[in-house]
Amino acid sequence: MKTNEKITGKLNQLLADYQIYYQNLRGLHWNVKGNLFFALHAKYEELYNEAAEVIDELAERILMIGGKPQHSFSEYLKTAALKEVVNVSGASEGVQVVLENSRYLLGVVREVNELAAGAGDEGTVALMSDLIGTTEKRIWMFEAYLG
Ligand SMILES: [Fe+2]
Repeated sequence: MKTNEKITGKLNQLLADYQIYYQNLRGLHWNVKGNLFFALHAKYEELYNEAAEVIDELAERILMIGGKPQHSFSEYLKTAALKEVVNVSGASEGVQVVLENSRYLLGVVREVNELAAGAGDEGTVALMSDLIGTTEKRIWMFEAYLG
């Protein structure tokens, strides 16, 4: 397959944003306090483990279509648009971070999806379709949590 730099560039954007999202989740997992500690501590761990798998899929997809996945913190911080979130310990504040990060990521996933669909890159479209489904589900659940 011929390298499509628009797609690999956008995938690197998504990869960098996912790394920030991953580290935001680690922070939430470590810093959460209060009577929902056990539920949220475990939920954040589940989410960062899922995010780690997505990160690996994105990087390997970039390689499959001839690109080069970013792999250093310094590059990620330059490329990512998602902001680092630090020192959040409140339950609803933390859930709000997950929700906002997820809504943002969904937008980038949709952009990659459109580029890939336009280029006939079915493999990337399939990966993005899965991500759209799981991200929409996460958004629904966290909206329900916040009532
Ligand atoms: Fe832990």
